[in-house]
Amino acid sequence: MLRPSNSPMTVGVIGTGHVGTITCLSLAAVGHRVVGCDADSEKVKALASGRLPFHEPGAQELLEEQLATGRLTFTAETTVAVSDADVVFICVGTPARASGEANLLAVEQAGREIAGAATGPLVVVEKSTVPAGTGGHLQRTVSGGHPDPVRTLDVVSNPEFLREGRALNDALHPDRILVGASSPRAFEVMRRLYQPFVDDGVQLIETDIISAELAKHASNAFLALKISYVNALARLCEASGADIEAVARVMGADPRIGSEFLGAGLGFGGYCFPKDLSAFQRLSERLGYPFPMLAEVARINDDAIQAAMAKIRDVVWNLEGKRVALLGLAFKPDTDDVRFSPALTLARHLLAEGATVVGFDPVAGAAAQGDVPELELAADPYEAATDAHCIVVCTAWDELRELDLQELGERMAAKNLVDGRNLLDGPTATAAGFTYRAMGRPDSIGSVP
Ligand code: UDX
Repeated sequence: MLRPSNSPMTVGVIGTGHVGTITCLSLAAVGHRVVGCDADSEKVKALASGRLPFHEPGAQELLEEQLATGRLTFTAETTVAVSDADVVFICVGTPARASGEANLLAVEQAGREIAGAATGPLVVVEKSTVPAGTGGHLQRTVSGGHPDPVRTLDVVSNPEFLREGRALNDALHPDRILVGASSPRAFEVMRRLYQPFVDDGVQLIETDIISAELAKHASNAFLALKISYVNALARLCEASGADIEAVARVMGADPRIGSEFLGAGLGFGGYCFPKDLSAFQRLSERLGYPFPMLAEVARINDDAIQAAMAKIRDVVWNLEGKRVALLGLAFKPDTDDVRFSPALTLARHLLAEGATVVGFDPVAGAAAQGDVPELELAADPYEAATDAHCIVVCTAWDELRELDLQELGERMAAKNLVDGRNLLDGPTATAAGFTYRAMGRPDSIGSVP
């Protein structure tokens, strides 16, 4: 069980996006005084008044709870977040440039502002995902080129491994905490900060800064590789008549492989995997060791969408004038995030081929329509199915597992179902009169319990 810190610290968090806000909440929850800071004063106002600007299970409640303790506050002024702090986290965005490289301008800017506002010794933590080597640049930026004996600013790399939709649990009960630093003082400060988590049994891994930075990209790229591996296998299963769910179950039973991230389907999306994969690729090229496997991971991920398109064409024939219903629009369940969502990539392909596309998502509908304005929105799966020639399950939302297939089918112009996440039971769908297609599975097969 997590217990409050024995020696609470004062923490500033620059950038209150998903990662920054969850960092604020988890550190306040163990008793630290936390000041979240964002240049967007509307966001600051919302958070300060207890409104979480994104969907994340449990976070709204924790925000209200921590604001009420007075330990958590928000500001638009960097000086307020930095001047009394022992530790300042940089949680600003590192979006991809057109080249695929991470844009680190906001990190540099945050470093300068922190250096300008620091009044005493401070540990400056890179939380944002950054390419290996960023710590050196950041250290030079915050030191202004010359060490200051009074205001020693030590840079630390402390990457996050939060999954959207489970971010709070991942932050409060992480598999591991990674701290990359170069001075005993910085390690000491970070040990004190994370003491409640370590006391709760979490492993704290200490490395040098560059290894910590590289480990974050390496972890995400490896997980993406696992998904692409299973999706490539899914294509082989389709060609051979094998069932990817059975194959993945056998593979996953080997603890050296592990059963997680072997889910075949429409592939990975979200703000992290695609962006981190291309940033890691660019980094490896820049370092003189191009890593072609990473490009292949991305290519196989694109193939998964093409495989789904082929199945849709196979069941509805020509797409012009056909109505396709996408069930699930978020890049994965339990989030309203549609960034790089495979569902929206599919929507764009379908629209480009002349189909009308209607979508349903329990929480991400509005965001999806913001990205793809031609997308029609339905209030529930049954409305989405009305007059549709094909349903495509795009996101593995739990509520989609219990669909009344009889009712869905009765509303449709043609009973076609492409299960992009292998979520449904094939024989049940077939018994309800559907032409059912799954990913990497023979058409007649049922879902694996
Ligand atoms: C990921 C990492 O898991 C996390 O550690 C890191 O800090 C940020 O990036 P997230 O993007 O929230 O987290 O989502 P994740 O749960 O990892 O899923 C990523 C994508 O892979 C989703 O689109 C999901 O649908 C897909 N996926 C996942 C599969 O297609 N198959 C699987 O078996 C698992």
